[in-house]
Formats: sequence, structure tokens, C-alpha cells
Amino acid sequence: MMMARKLVLLSAVTLGGLMGMSPMAQARHRDGAAGPADTRAQDLLSRMTLQDKLSMVFTIDGGGTMGNAPVPPGGLGSAAYLRTPAGLPPLQISDAGLGLRNPSHVRPRGQAVGLPSGLATASTWDPDMARQGGAMIGSEAWRQGFNVLLAGGADLTRDPRGGRNFEYAGEDPLLTGRMVGATIAGIQSQHVISTLKHFAMNDLETSRMTMSADIDNAAMRESDLLGFEIAMETGHPGSVMCSYNRVNDIYACENPYLLTKVLKQDWKYPGFVMSDWGATHSSARSALAGLDQESSGDDADARPYFREILARDVKEGRVPASRVDDMARRIIRSMYDVGLVDHPPVMQPLDVVTDTLASQHDEEEGAVLLKNRANLLPLDPNARIAVIGGHADVGVISGGGSSQVDPIGAPPIGVVKGPGKKDWPGDPVYFPSSPFRMMQAEAPSAHLTYDPGTNITRAVEAARKADVAVVFATQFTYEGMDAANAMTLDDNQDALIAAVARANPRTVVVMETGDPVLMPWLDNVGAVMEAWFPGSGGGTAIARLLFGRVAPSGHLPMTFPASTAQLAHPDIAGVTATNVFEMQFHTDQELVYDEGSEVGYRWFDRTHARPLFPFGYGLTYTTFSNDGLRVRHHGHDVIATFTVRNTGTRAGVDVPQIYVGLPDGGGRRLAGWQRVTLAPGESREVSVRLEPRMLAHFDVKHNRWDVPSGHYRVWLGSSATDDSDQVTVHLGGWTMAP
Ligand code: GLC
Repeated sequence: MMMARKLVLLSAVTLGGLMGMSPMAQARHRDGAAGPADTRAQDLLSRMTLQDKLSMVFTIDGGGTMGNAPVPPGGLGSAAYLRTPAGLPPLQISDAGLGLRNPSHVRPRGQAVGLPSGLATASTWDPDMARQGGAMIGSEAWRQGFNVLLAGGADLTRDPRGGRNFEYAGEDPLLTGRMVGATIAGIQSQHVISTLKHFAMNDLETSRMTMSADIDNAAMRESDLLGFEIAMETGHPGSVMCSYNRVNDIYACENPYLLTKVLKQDWKYPGFVMSDWGATHSSARSALAGLDQESSGDDADARPYFREILARDVKEGRVPASRVDDMARRIIRSMYDVGLVDHPPVMQPLDVVTDTLASQHDEEEGAVLLKNRANLLPLDPNARIAVIGGHADVGVISGGGSSQVDPIGAPPIGVVKGPGKKDWPGDPVYFPSSPFRMMQAEAPSAHLTYDPGTNITRAVEAARKADVAVVFATQFTYEGMDAANAMTLDDNQDALIAAVARANPRTVVVMETGDPVLMPWLDNVGAVMEAWFPGSGGGTAIARLLFGRVAPSGHLPMTFPASTAQLAHPDIAGVTATNVFEMQFHTDQELVYDEGSEVGYRWFDRTHARPLFPFGYGLTYTTFSNDGLRVRHHGHDVIATFTVRNTGTRAGVDVPQIYVGLPDGGGRRLAGWQRVTLAPGESREVSVRLEPRMLAHFDVKHNRWDVPSGHYRVWLGSSATDDSDQVTVHLGGWTMAP
């Protein structure tokens, strides 16, 4: 039985009933009281022995991950496996957030459909789209026998060179929380537990295993932790994965402030905390700090902490048996709550056509049009078009590491074999959705040629003969290593683009990148589209966007800097690795986030630096105006109302955004937005409820959100630097629970 993937639009919470409670408290209001899952878990726990409970708090390698470990009896070949007691279904645990992983190609039929990167989904600013994508990968996991998906990456992209930014949702806590929370809700709608990861401050990769992210607690609550908090109340993840790094010098997986004080006391999180693979560094200290399950402990950690040592800790009184009860109960409670017990997976073929369409639609909404001089796009379907570079003749690139999907329709190593890298993460995998082939299908009357772009002279010749040149640029980013410090394209791609643009000013650049990159050729090209990692339907999506079958509607979830000098940390933390794993275990450093909660556009707001493209920015094939802003408040509910108008000649989608500035003059913060689809000439009045925590500072001393009394600036615009309209409103001030 497959859960219907229709979207049940959540009924708006009545403003009256729960008004005045913090959104988390509201969520708790619904979840704080013990529900049926808690009751069932408590009942089962009462019939379990201590040994039963101890057998639940560690998982073993599911096969294919650490050094190609064998698939254990009962396992399927994945990140981890838990043989459970007391009649519970085993936990079949797989990566990850962009689709079902097949580590080391361990499952012969392990190919799956890959979503575009998390940044593409975030660029849609469309929680329903995120939910649909989550439901798609959740259903694929379920159909291949899995009931835990290690998804829900919600670390903020504090640095635009972060190696795993492609798995996350950008620099803003509200956008991140709502989009990742929707993905988690989609996954769990398929009776598969989703994680929320990597908790917390795992914003960089190269030195993730040992670095300490040092940040003031109030600033952390207002930025990275707020993203996790909103994702948690939006998606209700069955599990949270604590991260490798240290936070203020204490490893995240044995950090009482993060795991107990914030997560389980303030946020009243009812689920369980699992470690990242190799992120457990102790037994009693971790258990007492709030870790509930050691992941793949048999080979990822230095010692068998929860598999063996914890039993001695309990026997010798270092860990009370009640803590082990709590650990096991949390795991069991999430199993009941997400439906693993009542709806176990039924192995069956994937619905590849439907799933690929879901991925394609995500990319169509998530690609961001950054430049379109003289309406060069959409392309003339009868034109002579030179397509150049990016392996566009065979597919689209994807990110590397534990989020890697073995794409349907291609040999397991993907369509294009790289230089034969054997160490982590192997060759870049291209999904066999060829933009060039799909452009031919989309415009059969066009005269399309393809040139690989490896010989600039030949590429220039092709561009010169064409009406339009479309250059595909790729950047491979992956887990465990941050992108180049200089934030530039490699393989001489900048020179290729510049030469093609000189030969033909009607040049379009399609970027398939994991991160923002510098664009030294920007003034000389006609159009630029950021396609991110485009996913299994990416070639089709890009072709439909370029020919205008569908109009782009993406808006940037992170700032594109004009130079690394503009960044809070111009030199990325970490060192140039020769061997990723070797380096990771020997780089012990403190990364002081002295920018605090002023991440991304907030930093640019403070420094008044002018980015290449601002947060929230995105063009389409029509134009819009936003005006008539007015703000009213009823108690603690603050509502912004305004009018959106399509002033162009084509239907299109706009994403007007509401930013607020607090009375103390700090930088603007995103407080709400709305996707609006309008026909040419159509206008609509829109109302957006402002997220109250964006009006507040976090008061560590009193452990509460504090909305100061005073005058607030409210901006309406289509990016973080667009002031289409602005008003000032006076609020009386109030406090909210943490
Ligand atoms: C990795 C990643 C984590 C992943 C896990 C299992 O190191 O950090 O995101 O889910 O291990 O592969």
C-alpha cells in the first residue's frame, strides 16, 4: 500500500487560539502531551529487559559503506542496520537527502531517482515542492525496504564554499527551517523516519571531524539553531543526527547544551538523537549528554562505546538504567509515531516515470535566472544554437559523498567516468539526463550542435557560426572537502566562457555548481542561469526553461559574493587536503564565528558590501511590481499586506519577500514570503504573517525570545537588497518561550 502522495494542505493555525505562544510552544501544544506513540512505546518498554533496551542504542554497518563492509544478515546494503528486539521491525537505515544511496553499488538494483540539490529545492521557496520531493525519495526508500532516511540537512551555508552546501537550504534560518521541515514531512508521509542533520554548526567540511565552531549561544539560537528549530516544528523528524564537529570546544554528540538543554528541554524534542558515523567519542559522557544511538558503532568509532562499554557504565552506576530506558523509548516512540510498525515497507519496483517528473519539476522551479540581457531567453526554437561544455551531451553533474545517488538508467558509476579517482568521493557522477538531447527534443526545428569545450579554438569556431551559444559550466563539490578558497570555476572554464562570449555576445551560461562561483565574464555574456545540481530530470528541466516551455521562478537561497574579500571569513577554515581522511583527523582548530547570527545577506547588510547577486534574487520571463505595503498587528501576530502586479506580457511567478529591522538598528532579517502566480496584467493582494522570532533577540540569561518594544522597519522586495516598499510599525514588545 503506497501512501497517497497528494498534498494535504495544512489548515492555517487559527490565529486566535494559540496566539501568544511561541511557534515551538504551539508545536509542543500539539505534541507536548503524550500521544498514542508515547503510550505504545511506554507499554512495550515495560515488557523489555535491560539487554533488549541496550540492543537498540547502537547500529551496525549495513554493508557497503566503511571500506565495503559486508552486508550483515538481515541487512539490505546501506549506511546502517539495527536488529531490534520485542517484535519490532528492524531499522533499515539509508542515506540520504537527495535520493536513495547505494553505497559502493552494494545493491545490484540499487539505482534510484535523484532530486536536484537542496539549494535548488530551497530556491523554489515552495514548501509544497519540498514536501513532494521528500515524499518521492521517501517512497523510493520504502519501496526498496528502508524505513529510515538520513535526510534533512539544515546547516546554514555560512560559507559559500562549504563542501556540502548542495545538501542544505541556504543561509537563512527561516527559509532553511520551512523548506527542510517540509522535505522531512514529505519523507515521513511515506512511513520512513527522516533525520534532521547535522546538529549543529557543521557548516564546513574540510576539518569537520575535529574543528570547534565557536559562537555565542544567543547568536547560535538566532541563526543555525533557529533553522533547526523551525525545521523541527515543521517536519517533526523522528530523529536528529548530531554532527562531527565540536561546538564551543565540546563534541556535538556529547554536548549537553545542544542535546539536552536546547533540543530536549527547551524544544521538548520527543524523538531520538543518533550520532554521525564516527562522531561518538565516549560512552557515559555521550549518553548523559543526550545521545541516544551510536551509529554504525562497530567500525566507525574508536571503541564500541554503546555496543559494549555502556552496559558496564550502567552496571557500575555511571549511567542510570533510567537513561537507557529513555534512549530506547525515544527510538521506539519514533518508530510508532512515523508508522514503521503499522506500515512496514513492501519491496516493489520504483515508479521511475512519476519520480523523475517530481525531480524535474523541482529543478524547473529551482533554477535561478540571474541575467537575461535584451531577453536573450527564452531561445528561438528555430535558431542555430551551439551547445558547449559541461558534458551536456550525456547528462548533468551531481554532488559527491553520502548523498550520492546511483542514477537510474546509467551504469552504476554514472555516465561520465572521471580521471579514475579511487579515493573518496570517487568520480563525479553525471545523471543521464542530457540537456543537449533534451534541447533537440524540445526544439526539433532548431539547428543544434554540441562541442565538448575542451578545445577553446574549436568551441569559439562553433559559437561564431551560431545565432546563440549555450555554455554549460560545472563545479563538483562533495562531502568532506570544502570548495576552492578562491571560489572559481576549474578546468579553464572561465577562459572558455570568456572566449565564447567574445566570439558571440549572444552567449548563455548555464551553471551546474554546488556553490556560488565568481563570474569574471559576467558583463560579456547575455544570460546566466544557476541550475545547481539539476537532478535526474535536470536535462529536461533545463531544456524546457531555456526554450520557455516553463518560465524560471527560482530565487537565490544564498548570497553570491562579488569577491571572497566580502566574506566574514575570506580564507576558508581548514587546509588544502592531500588526503581527505588523513587531513581531517589532524586539523584541530577553532573557527570563531564572530559574525554571530549575521550570516549571508545579514553580513552584507552590516558591511554594506555589494554582492554579485543578493539573497532572494531571481528573474523570470515577465516583470512584476510590489507595492502598497501596510503592516497591522493583533497582539503578537504581525501581518504584512501588499499588492503584487504582473507588469509584463507573460504569465509568471514572483516571490515577494518581507524583511524586518529591529528597533536597535541591526541588519534586516527575512520574516516571511509568498510565491504568487499571475497572468499578464493581473494583480493580487497578498498577506504574510511575520515569523515572531525574527522580531526578537534571544535572551540567554532569561532563556526566552525577547521582542523589544519600539519602531520596526518592514521592507517589501524581491531580494535582500530590493526596497520596493518600506513602512515603520511600532510594537509593544513581548517575550516568548525558547
Ligand atoms: C556521513 C555523513 C552523514 C551520513 C552518514 C552515513 O559521514 O556526515 O550525513 O548520513 O555518514 O553515511
